[in-house]
Amino acid sequence: MTGPFTVRDGGADDAGTGVDGTPAPDSAPFDAVPDPPPAAPDDAPALLDLDTALAEPATRILVCCGSGGVGKTTTAAALALRAAEQGRRVVVLTIDPARRLAQSLGLRELDNTPRRVDGVRPAGGRDGGALDAMMLDMKRTFDEVVLAHASRERAEQIFANPFYQSLSSSFAGTQEYMAMEKLGQLVGTGRWDLVVVDTPPSRSALDFLDAPGRLGSFLDGRFLRVLTAPAKAGGKVYLKAFNAGLSMVTGAVTKVLGASLLRDVQGFVSAMDTMFGGFRERAEATYRLLAAPGTAFVVVAAPERDALREASYFVDRLERDRMPLAGLVLNRVHPDPAPELSAERSLAAAEVLQESGAHPVTAALLRLHADRVRLSERERRLAARFTAAHPDVPVARVPAQPVDVHDLDGLRTIGAALAAASGAAPG
Ligand SMILES: Nc1ncnc2c1ncn2[C@@H]1O[C@H](COP(=O)(O)OP(=O)(O)O)[C@@H](O)[C@H]1O
Ligand SMILES: [Mg+2]
Repeated sequence: MTGPFTVRDGGADDAGTGVDGTPAPDSAPFDAVPDPPPAAPDDAPALLDLDTALAEPATRILVCCGSGGVGKTTTAAALALRAAEQGRRVVVLTIDPARRLAQSLGLRELDNTPRRVDGVRPAGGRDGGALDAMMLDMKRTFDEVVLAHASRERAEQIFANPFYQSLSSSFAGTQEYMAMEKLGQLVGTGRWDLVVVDTPPSRSALDFLDAPGRLGSFLDGRFLRVLTAPAKAGGKVYLKAFNAGLSMVTGAVTKVLGASLLRDVQGFVSAMDTMFGGFRERAEATYRLLAAPGTAFVVVAAPERDALREASYFVDRLERDRMPLAGLVLNRVHPDPAPELSAERSLAAAEVLQESGAHPVTAALLRLHADRVRLSERERRLAARFTAAHPDVPVARVPAQPVDVHDLDGLRTIGAALAAASGAAPG
């Protein structure tokens, strides 16, 4: 919950790295809160206890969301592995995992089915734990939905339709919708105790939540009603309505040209006509599943301005939709290297050394130290601002690793850090 804050200009420092190159939405509460005063011990956020959530049998679905590049896929895989090694039967649905991570999860091809991950080691005395992993194939998932709802013949017609081909492989929102569709399928099998879901690196982090509504309004909204009844609307009026509808569809579709597009869309619509209800019902069922108590959302962010701004917006949206938010994972945090030596003293010492001309290496190290202290301070300031905007959101901090996380050991380290966050984590 966020109260009214006085809006002020963003600080001059803290230039975060771009997130998908997307300008973050205006008036996010993250920007609206002034920098809090230097942390008083009581201001620290509650620590996010993910181990308890993982071990809790009632937790059936865990969704990692956040903007691109912050560590969603890594966090999802690390939490899934940890839960499996603690004895649960887990499946992780990843979306575009980095190639090396995919390889170490045994995902060599995009076959849209969960595969057993080798090398999972159930922790002392606990057995029964297992991990399956899969990569989402958006087109294949869409095809499966069509097959589930249409006769073989109808399905073939739909598959052959250029509009469908474009929609199923590049319509903005299709990936979000198909991730939910797949999630619903995985939960529906009853094969797993816990389904961990990575989310698409959406330009807007909200797309995932919007999926049922967007797909619903796209597939059975006004746009399609206009298209299915072209005879009723004459000439210009029809074209105008069509263009208005078309502007809802993104570039990929508009690439297909005029009249043939129209024919394709009409063919698609009449072939799909009987499926709309089914589509929407499925999306809504999954949406209800997400809102249910067995689900936990984890928002992942890097300690950077843009990522935290998106995270803040996401937290608000989850709260507005009454989605069960577990907390924030602050990933790739740089801990204060040596709190007893401040950046100022370090720089002053470096200057003295430089003037004397002696110990150039030591001077360079002192400057490096000062940089790292400042980085750590800036990260803490940004995190404190997030917490000021969302005081009730627990936070887990995961240190930046010296190398990429691409194997099971790397995931174990991240998993342990996520769990350690529920103990006493430094600064
Ligand atoms: N705590 C960490 N320390 C170091 N590297 C990390 C950490 N978390 C993630 N990475 C690396 O950052 C990159 C992006 O992570 P990824 O999980 O793919 O992000 P996302 O799914 O949010 O786009 C990957 O190369 C991953 O190995
Ligand atoms: Mg990812």
